[in-house]
Amino acid sequence: MNSFLIKGLGKKKKLEGTLRVNGAKNAVLKAQAASVLFKEEVVLKNVPFIEDFLQMNCLLGSLGVEVFHEEGRTFRYKISSGIKPEMDLKIATLLRSSVVLTGPILAREGRVFFPHPGGCVIGKRPIDVFLDSFKEMGAGVIEETNFYRIEAKKLKGADIFFKLPSVTATETLMMAAVLAYGKTILRNVACEPEIAVLANFLNASGADIKGAGTNTIEINGRSGKLLEKGVFETPPDRVEAGSFAVIASILGKNLRISDCDPSHMRAELSALKETGVDIKIGKDYLLISAPKRLTAVDIKTHEYPGFSTDMQAPFSVLLTQAEGKSMVFETVFDGRLNYLNDLERMGAKIIICDPHRAIIEGPTKLRGRKMESPDLRAGLAFLTAALAAEGESEISNIYNIDRGYEKIEERLSNIGATIKRI
Ligand code: EPU
Repeated sequence: MNSFLIKGLGKKKKLEGTLRVNGAKNAVLKAQAASVLFKEEVVLKNVPFIEDFLQMNCLLGSLGVEVFHEEGRTFRYKISSGIKPEMDLKIATLLRSSVVLTGPILAREGRVFFPHPGGCVIGKRPIDVFLDSFKEMGAGVIEETNFYRIEAKKLKGADIFFKLPSVTATETLMMAAVLAYGKTILRNVACEPEIAVLANFLNASGADIKGAGTNTIEINGRSGKLLEKGVFETPPDRVEAGSFAVIASILGKNLRISDCDPSHMRAELSALKETGVDIKIGKDYLLISAPKRLTAVDIKTHEYPGFSTDMQAPFSVLLTQAEGKSMVFETVFDGRLNYLNDLERMGAKIIICDPHRAIIEGPTKLRGRKMESPDLRAGLAFLTAALAAEGESEISNIYNIDRGYEKIEERLSNIGATIKRI
């Protein structure tokens, strides 16, 4: 198990230079899953070398997808002789996005067997929306303890209303519907930009999807006919860009965050501006210097285009440095405030009201300490807090950070941080 040793910068030193934003985790994982819909091959470009991407490659490999590393950040996926409909238990239970593969596998093979998906421990993560929707498309679903068997000789198009707008359910059902028989309408679905990116990629490869990026999506199915071939360009990771923007707002001096798409970060950038951060917003970059004084703001997480739940933990670290009381209201997941106990032990003043709400009073000096990364975004939040603190910190279980941030210690060290992987 690796750990990060971090030397706190306190108020003395600033981070300067450029941080390049990599391809989006939550986009590339879905394009990897989409490779199962293709007859010939799929090329993915600008991939991030993060653990979730690598694990998804292993999962695809175990199903029979051939995965080739072409060069640099380009990978190629090809299915020469069919795929297995049963997922590898060990890998699938590591990854939430393993569940996204159920749509393409079911649509291609007529059956899929898989365990309850894993991923970050951030509260209950049921898959009822997936199962109910598959049933509406004519599939038989057998639930065993933590294992599912779904079969459908022919998936039928259906008019489906999601009881809540799940991101991965939207992507999974959209992909299943591409190969289904007849028209599918998905209502009350998620509108995250990664969904529109996935739909554009599938449309460019022969699918017929309308409305992705809005809350109603219509898909004309291809009656079992596979897509031929496709090329996917991974868009910039808006959560990585947002995480860097928070670091810059606490510790940056003319810190440039390059290769990002600020138009996908409106809620987070407007909250940052409300705290008093002066941000220059370019077409594909942000330029940020930490102000002398930050002001408290209330944040409430929401589905896109609202304030992203994935940005809640990093942003809360910034609020420990802001003057006044801020209310953090996490509405999407019910276990995503647990990391606040560790921030409190670093010296932050926090009242946890209930599993969804906390009040943070700042500014407080943070002290370095030993912590364990509980999930990806809380891990990044600890890294940020450790940089802002006085003294040394050690963060263990950094697999949880590597899942979504590529070589974060090298990238932050390049702009003046002192972080060692031990
Ligand atoms: N939900 C249900 N039933 C379902 C599906 C979801 O009740 O069948 C609930 C969840 O429990 C949660 C809410 O719906 O309370 C929203 O969950 P959603 O399904 O939208 O989340 P997800 O698809 O599992 C994706 C991202 C997460 C991100 C959320 C919300 C991927 C692989 N994961 O998860 O990313 O937080 O959407 O935007 O795309 C991360 O990157 O750190 C991360 C956790």
